[in-house]
Amino acid sequence: MCFDVEEVLGQLTIQEKISLVSGVDYWHTAPVHRLNVPSIRTSDGPNGIRGQHHFNSTPTAAIPVGTALGATWNKELLYKAGQLLEKEARAKGAGVVLGPTVNIQRIPNGGRGFESFSEDPLLSGELAASYIKGIQYDGVAACIKHFVGNDQENERFSSNSIISDRALREIYLKPFEIAIEKAKPLALMTSYNKVNGVHASENKILYSILREEWGWDGTVMSDWTGTYSTAEAINAGLDLEMPGPAKFRGVLLQHALLAKTVSLRALDERVKNVLRLVHRVQASQIPERAPETERNLPEDRKLLKELASEGIVLLKNEDNVLPLNRQKKVLVVGPNAPYAIYSGGGSALSTPYYYVSPLEAITSIVGDEKVVYDFGAYNHKYLPSLAQELFNGESNGTLIELFNEPPSVPGRTPFDTIQFKNINYFRMNDYTHPGLKSLRFYATLTSTFIPQHDGEYTFGIAVDGTANLYIDNELVIDNSTNQKLGESFYGSGTVEVYGKYQVKKGKSYALRIEFGSSATSNVSGNRTFSGGGGLRFGGLKIVPNPIETVLQKAKDYEQILVVTGLNHDHESEGSDRDDLKIPGESNKLIEALLEANADTVVVIQSGTPVEMPWASRVKALVHQSYGGMEGSNALADVLFGNSSPSGKLPITFPRRLEDTPSYINNTTQNGRVLYGEDIYVGYRYFDKVSRDVLFAFGHGLSYTSFELTGLVVNVNGDLLEASLTARNTGQLQGSVVVQLYIGKADSKGRPVKELKAFEKRSLKSGHEQLITFSVPLKTSTSYFDEEVQKWLSSAGEYNVIVGQSSDDVKSVTQAFTLHQSIVY
Ligand code: BGC
Repeated sequence: MCFDVEEVLGQLTIQEKISLVSGVDYWHTAPVHRLNVPSIRTSDGPNGIRGQHHFNSTPTAAIPVGTALGATWNKELLYKAGQLLEKEARAKGAGVVLGPTVNIQRIPNGGRGFESFSEDPLLSGELAASYIKGIQYDGVAACIKHFVGNDQENERFSSNSIISDRALREIYLKPFEIAIEKAKPLALMTSYNKVNGVHASENKILYSILREEWGWDGTVMSDWTGTYSTAEAINAGLDLEMPGPAKFRGVLLQHALLAKTVSLRALDERVKNVLRLVHRVQASQIPERAPETERNLPEDRKLLKELASEGIVLLKNEDNVLPLNRQKKVLVVGPNAPYAIYSGGGSALSTPYYYVSPLEAITSIVGDEKVVYDFGAYNHKYLPSLAQELFNGESNGTLIELFNEPPSVPGRTPFDTIQFKNINYFRMNDYTHPGLKSLRFYATLTSTFIPQHDGEYTFGIAVDGTANLYIDNELVIDNSTNQKLGESFYGSGTVEVYGKYQVKKGKSYALRIEFGSSATSNVSGNRTFSGGGGLRFGGLKIVPNPIETVLQKAKDYEQILVVTGLNHDHESEGSDRDDLKIPGESNKLIEALLEANADTVVVIQSGTPVEMPWASRVKALVHQSYGGMEGSNALADVLFGNSSPSGKLPITFPRRLEDTPSYINNTTQNGRVLYGEDIYVGYRYFDKVSRDVLFAFGHGLSYTSFELTGLVVNVNGDLLEASLTARNTGQLQGSVVVQLYIGKADSKGRPVKELKAFEKRSLKSGHEQLITFSVPLKTSTSYFDEEVQKWLSSAGEYNVIVGQSSDDVKSVTQAFTLHQSIVY
């Protein structure tokens, strides 16, 4: 039954009001059933809808991550991605999707950079707007995040992002501003960090910018455990503390009302905003506490493949080495080929309906007999999943039994039993069960291990809690005594502890892990998110000199393909990468193979840039950010020419980390991170200082070619209008991304050029289309003048540069003059 916000507000008791402004549990808002106010469910986001369980989550459609979506440069497709998320949110009973993430990849090594769309605020904002419109088309709410300045993971709860007003406005707030103006997200999540000295969740910009300036009337919630005060947060405009039970509301809020550090009026305003969100989400007609269901429909898979495909970037293709010839044999090499790396790690990670590795996808195109695989190099941070070699009965899997008592208690009986397909990684932070007596609990995990290789395997366990590994009852890993704190589980888990065991291929071994929850841990890390804790388990047969083995085979193959890069362990919430290197010996492997066969094709998978010291020698090079459930199929299609690549880099790939504008300020020092490069983020910096990059922002090739001609530019009232013709001059159908940049001719104090509009079009061979742009003058020419605290378009000449990348030598340019300065 529907409720009226004002009416309910008038009838709520103080206790009910206090309950409404904090979560009731990890994912839900509090209900007031006597007044027909239901509880609504939130769910991560942003590249899949995980539902209400980190642990044993319901499978879902894993869409490509932010940088993969960013690389599509396709607004229409992002709208469809949003619609798919909406359908998945319904299936998971969630009325609020915790996404999109629109922080900026200020540092290329940021642990969560993969979640955001782009280093460019316009590309990010426009794509976010389409994605939000898709999510919100029928009642579900999008929660844009993290507002603002959460552009690194290092010390994320406390780091003070020191950002000039100009950079804040032009770069970091801009994607939020665009998305709020164009798509009106119903909710917004504050970030963990401080912005210019004050935590975002109690910062005055929540009011002054969001409400007063932008006139936004949505609901502000904190990031999970990102509320740090009672009165300050309420008074600044933080409507909802998440998750529940609240740390800073409840009795503390009651006391604050008594002391009048929070007025009833301020509380009412927060309550009203929460009620408004619940009311709006009610339009979706998602039942309260709905059970989670699965979809996995053919039409969704088609869209997922399209999304993944359009985000694949062909970086180089000399001598048309690509596409590969499916009639010939191919030697596939590299640590990423046998795994389906569909997402980065952390809260964005979901359980997909299915997994397909690049190797499997390639095999399904060319057939078993034409593909040979050898891994060639390791690149893991934690040992990879052993899922293929673990069985529970006939099929792959592990049995998990949960107990209130430790293994030493004879005759204990499990209160919960779960079959898991893949125990590589799980978090029990939101685990609940009626049989659970306290947060100190235990689990026994059992599998039959049937190795695919003879010899010595290495196993690894990192744990938030305690865990021991036994094989045939022999203790192989003890990660219970002498534990050492590591980076795992957002800094609450241990380092990975290793153990070795000799096995025979095809023989069955009884594998058992005795796990104790977070409360049993002997290390004291950051337990903010721990709850029941978590386990990371993997294993591998480590082979000496894998490059040698590959080189032996390489001479028999005309076609060699390397698939390497990073994965969800390297790029994950809670920590940033130390450098831009591909870990392990992948670079050596690539160099050796290029020596053996100059046509070796290289695929790099990563959510953010990596260094490629061999880039000048490779002829065919593809970049794929984590592509969701259909990522590998899309990749195989591109490699074998079933589709023509059309992705464009949404982030600059620098040659070295040291070259990047944020390099000297890319981590927290003594509590603060200075955004010293100011507005010169990404290509704005490289352009300005004419510094060479590995691959420029907006770069990406195709199997066909395009020509842009006849640029006409015209100022019409308060609009800048531009038109030109895009023509497919190649032999195949393909998509062109037309990128419109504007720069002030006298670029003193301004970037050389900035992206102001873009359009993507699919064109058949020989076909052409007129592309028109109409961009408000404010967007095309203004900057934020700190002295007057206003946007200003200064009089003078501006260049409009239209090309197929930010460094397109064939770009077309026209100038226009703004005769009078305009202050907005
Ligand atoms: C992340 C958010 C996420 C939330 C809930 C936090 O750790 O920063 O992006 O939505 O957890 O999982």
